[in-house]
Amino acid sequence: MASAFAAAALLLHFLLQLLLRLSPSAAQPGFISLDCGGADDHTDGIGIQWTSDTNFVSGGQRAQLLVKNDQQKQQFTSVRYFPADNRKYCYTMNVRNRTRYLVRASFLYGNFDNSNVYPKFDLSLGATPWSTIVIDDATTPVVEEAIILAAAPTLSVCLSNARTGQPFISALELRQFNGSLYYTTDETRFFLTLSARINFGAASNESVRYPDDPFDRIWESDSVRRANYLVDVAPGTERISTTKPIFVGTNEEPPEKVMQTAVVGQDGSLNYRLDLEGFPGNAWGVSYFAEIEDLTPNETRKFKLVIPGMPAFSKPTVDVEENAQGKYRLYEPGYTNMSLPFVFSFGFKKTNDSSKGPILNAMEIYKYVQITMGSQDANTMASLVSRYSQAGWAQEGGDPCLPASWSWVQCSSEAAPRVFSITLSGKNITGSIPAELTKLSGLIELRLDGNSFSGQIPDFRDCHNLQYIHLENNQLTGELPPSLGDLPNLKELYVQNNKLSGQVPKALLRRSIIFNFTGNSGLHVVNNGISHTVIIIICVVIGVIILLGAIGCYLFTCRRNKKPSNDTVVIAAPAKKLGSYFSEVATESAHRFSLSEIEDATDKFKRRIGSGGFGIVYYGKLTDGREIAVKLLTNDSYQGIREFLNEVTLLSRIHHRHLVTFLGYSQQDGKSILVYEFMHNGTLKEHLRGAADEKITSWLKRLEIAEDAAKGIEYLHTGCSPTIIHRDLKSSNILLDKNMRAKVADFGLSKPAVDGSHVSSIVRGTVGYLDPEYYISQQLTEKSDIYSFGVILLELISGHEPISNNNFGLNCRNIVAWARSHIGSGNIHAIVDESLDSGYDLQSVWKIAEVAIMCVKPKGAQRPAISEVLEAIQDAIAIERGPQMHRTIRRQLMSNRSMGGSSSVSNTGDSSSVAVDLEQNGSSFDELLMRPGLR
Ligand SMILES: *[C@@H]1O[C@H](CO)[C@@H](O)[C@H](O)[C@H]1NC(C)=O
Ligand SMILES: *[C@@H]1O[C@H](CO)[C@@H](O)[C@H](O)[C@H]1NC(C)=O
Repeated sequence: MASAFAAAALLLHFLLQLLLRLSPSAAQPGFISLDCGGADDHTDGIGIQWTSDTNFVSGGQRAQLLVKNDQQKQQFTSVRYFPADNRKYCYTMNVRNRTRYLVRASFLYGNFDNSNVYPKFDLSLGATPWSTIVIDDATTPVVEEAIILAAAPTLSVCLSNARTGQPFISALELRQFNGSLYYTTDETRFFLTLSARINFGAASNESVRYPDDPFDRIWESDSVRRANYLVDVAPGTERISTTKPIFVGTNEEPPEKVMQTAVVGQDGSLNYRLDLEGFPGNAWGVSYFAEIEDLTPNETRKFKLVIPGMPAFSKPTVDVEENAQGKYRLYEPGYTNMSLPFVFSFGFKKTNDSSKGPILNAMEIYKYVQITMGSQDANTMASLVSRYSQAGWAQEGGDPCLPASWSWVQCSSEAAPRVFSITLSGKNITGSIPAELTKLSGLIELRLDGNSFSGQIPDFRDCHNLQYIHLENNQLTGELPPSLGDLPNLKELYVQNNKLSGQVPKALLRRSIIFNFTGNSGLHVVNNGISHTVIIIICVVIGVIILLGAIGCYLFTCRRNKKPSNDTVVIAAPAKKLGSYFSEVATESAHRFSLSEIEDATDKFKRRIGSGGFGIVYYGKLTDGREIAVKLLTNDSYQGIREFLNEVTLLSRIHHRHLVTFLGYSQQDGKSILVYEFMHNGTLKEHLRGAADEKITSWLKRLEIAEDAAKGIEYLHTGCSPTIIHRDLKSSNILLDKNMRAKVADFGLSKPAVDGSHVSSIVRGTVGYLDPEYYISQQLTEKSDIYSFGVILLELISGHEPISNNNFGLNCRNIVAWARSHIGSGNIHAIVDESLDSGYDLQSVWKIAEVAIMCVKPKGAQRPAISEVLEAIQDAIAIERGPQMHRTIRRQLMSNRSMGGSSSVSNTGDSSSVAVDLEQNGSSFDELLMRPGLR
């Protein structure tokens, strides 16, 4: 009996919780008030019911503020914060579709992480970038408000892209409107963000909000002093107020309390200047007037709006009493779309025939923000995740691709991205494979292995681009759909260890793909002996041993290159004949060379070709003819073998066509050795300052080298998780291959950045390239690499080395100071390398000079991201090559994405031939995958 009671109580509690999540609080219909990071529900002093945010967000942690603030509000005692990684973290709230809402997000830092690093990160509303939150004070809240017409049954607010510190949020509020004051003509394409909402003549510094304003807008008092906000007030401005009721209408007009106070210009004018956050831009602005003085019958109050430089606004005359059809009534003229500057001055001036000066009770200014087209697969993906409402991975919220993609999804970088990769391996998913997946026409890679999917494999014939399908280790039944054999781009198909039956479709056997269907006892190949030209490739699973070896690697991943798989422990090279089912097996981890092998290859370390961080580099040639660069590490490079092997494992996961390929290692007799591909043309440094016949004298060639290197760095910064910071970029670490294409060397020989932001450790780097901020603060970020890359760009322009006693004039030894002063005074000729062939376009040199100067800004936060640097370089290349070429090529590549890179690559393959292969393809598929998504 008692337990039945308890069960009923539990059920009731559960239902209440559910109700709480689904319906806004009963006391304030249409309100959702989330105390982010707050532990319990509570009602504040003005009667707003706050709820904990746990049911609205997945992920993040709670923290208490460590610095007191004078907000005296419980929602400002805690925050929820998120990792500083490349994901987004979303709050999802249920809304009524086609209804207008006010969304308010508040951020009070309060040193919650006890680091006193003021965070900077992005806020988005659905897929649309809303604002960049920049904290520059621990105790003042940053508040963002938007008004948006809900276009779906849910609304999401997401945090992403931490530039400094960790993203966090203090409070999130949703207020439903029911009238049409904020109606705008293009609400499906734009939402409004608040720049100013002012209560003029306010009685105190207090804002007016709920319950005076039933929609809980916050009407700021005009007497609060803020820098560059409501300054230049005209002389003769007086505050007036009334206690008489004011008719304000029944919609979302300002509350009576706001309209009961005003300022009047006794000398005939009102005047204000204020900075409009987020402007210049297109604004929605409304002034609210009500006559609250008892004018005598022969007194009049007529005035005009004055905006300096915009005479058109001064045409209409306001006569409040007449316009509002009486005293104590609201009149609300405004402009629904006007272009406004950041520094905004405005005023009202009485007309000559008016006896009284102008009046102003309140005003609001919003900025239009264009709504970002979401990803093309947003609806399909929403429908997909709605099937798994209990699963953590399905709760990430927001758009699947924008502003960052869900953790198990990868998207193309088009303006309206498509999902090209789905990885739901080992998520314990049951039921049949969801049909939504077959509608993702941009899909290239699908990984559903290691779940408990049952039923038949659906028909993927509409996913033309599919290349990699992993369905192994599930409970799938039925036959393999013949349509799989028709997928034009299929490269790998894994269906082993299911309960499939019937015949393997002939079309699959006829193709040169990696295809594993072992472990399906009911599935069989009908071999009629005729098809001796058939090439069958079968992979063999050799699990346990190698799996054990691979486990250590899961902590660190880079975005896939063209390798078949990171998780697949077996790679099979195409076998020539039916019958040779067993092919060579390579492990996931790095190749291990024996010391004698290395000694043979290098002829006992005979030819020294350079020295880099951590050791000396020797030339070598393997017995198979491959040329290699062998780096013999100095003994103190690593504390121990374990540390060395850890780093080797990391290195083996970093693959990119603009990073020097890591081939393996050797660890024997106290010698630690790293083996890389040999780069025939040496270092960039030699080609800038070496012998005359080696000098690269073509500006375009130098730009191409910069582009290659930037792509390599971009991969380290954005393609790997956690991010890899190179720490020692310099012109001698940029190597050139046979075709004079550049690759970055010496990367990854250091710990990856923790949490994507900073790690402090012993400063490593080279004088002249070393970021001064890092040197002083010991806080390492990607921006330290940007500084070094900026120096390299200056080398490319000038040909000079970064530190020199002779080249930079008196009292200047440093390329940065020298270049900065010349570029600053507009004298680019002074720094351009005289040995460059003439005929380059000065504009493209300027482009690089400008971005280089940005890169070497003293503060990391002021430096651009590598993707922005890359863009500038590509723009410069486009200028050199002539109009339009660059952009069109890129676009074509986008649309032909699936056709790029047709080479068959395997871990056992000859990596130098892979590199050449990619070169010939021009821009490969992988490179496009590596572009970070548009923000
Ligand atoms: C506002 O006007 C500008 C310029 O005429 C136009 O480009 C923009 O789309 C308009 N915005 C809205 C929201 O109507
Ligand atoms: C997988 O799902 C089953 C049933 O749904 C559950 O009992 C089990 O705990 C889950 N396992 C994991 C690892 O989540």
